[in-house]
Amino acid sequence: MLKARELTRRFGPLLAVDRLSFEVEPGTVLGFLGPNGAGKSTTMKMLTGFLAPTSGTAEVLGHDIRRDSVAARRVMGYLPEGAPLYGELSVAQFLAFAAEARGFRGNERDRKVRRAVERLELGAVMGQTIETLSKGFKRRVGLAQAILHDPPVLILDEPTDGLDPNQKHEVRSLIREMSPERIIVISTHILEEVDALCTRAMIIAHGRLLADDTPRGLLERSRYHHAVSLELEELDRAASRLGELPEAREVEIRRGRLTVFPSGQGDLFRAVGKVIDEEGWHVSHVQLESGRLDEVFRNITRKEAA
Ligand SMILES: Nc1ncnc2c1ncn2[C@@H]1O[C@H](COP(=O)(O)OP(=O)(O)OP(=O)(O)O)[C@@H](O)[C@H]1O
Ligand SMILES: [Mg+2]
Repeated sequence: MLKARELTRRFGPLLAVDRLSFEVEPGTVLGFLGPNGAGKSTTMKMLTGFLAPTSGTAEVLGHDIRRDSVAARRVMGYLPEGAPLYGELSVAQFLAFAAEARGFRGNERDRKVRRAVERLELGAVMGQTIETLSKGFKRRVGLAQAILHDPPVLILDEPTDGLDPNQKHEVRSLIREMSPERIIVISTHILEEVDALCTRAMIIAHGRLLADDTPRGLLERSRYHHAVSLELEELDRAASRLGELPEAREVEIRRGRLTVFPSGQGDLFRAVGKVIDEEGWHVSHVQLESGRLDEVFRNITRKEAA
């Protein structure tokens, strides 16, 4: 288990993280979401022992991050924000150095490095110095360093930031592959990533926890949850006809698309389908919406700002 208890960090007058408490079970991919400056990276730095909390603490697999920081760090892999330090080292040197810092020597060290290099597809850049790598490759070197020792807890600060679409896909697969049995915490600004990858999401703003839910639970808070969207020639006629359904609460036309919102009475999707059949409209697209995370995110974080 990972347990944060009233984790708090001040920078002078700024309260960057404000009494964050949460518990994470193995098998979880927890996503930290929040606007820039919300306190996501600061929380991750405290969890991984790179920044001391002003008050509060956390426990990682039974090790308190303040009293027992060496043991806590041993069970964690951490991808910090930005590029890896030691830019003047080659990728091979840097990873060998990181493996030695984790206590591996000789063949075992080489094996650990080789495996991480394979997983992040770094073979072609092993001889290149880190400072000369592209942004995405720097990110991948950072990830290789984080997973070197196969830690049970991974804290990854924007793991797919700057990666090309193929590598985004690879890194998400890697995280998914590693997730059973492990505790993985990621931060991200890519909302589709939350849906694709996370089993749980925490929305943070101004250092405070505003929502803690499954991606599905967040989607259920969207006004688009179970709405029906249509693209058809008879837009205006359909809007007034469908707006009269007892299953519909309201209709909206936006950019050539009609969306009907559910009243909560009966099955809206079926009712809309029935009307389409009866009227013989020329429908090119019908969709039952699961909800829109960007709208939920905006609502939750804006409400807080107001
Ligand atoms: N060393 C520091 N000294 C002073 N203020 C800091 C320091 N580190 C972070 N902060 C401030 O703390 C707040 C939280 O920053 P943090 O980096 O945790 O945000 P974040 O949620 O990771 O944002 P982003 O999405 O932009 O990465 C910000 O207002 C930031 O300016
Ligand atoms: Mg950050």
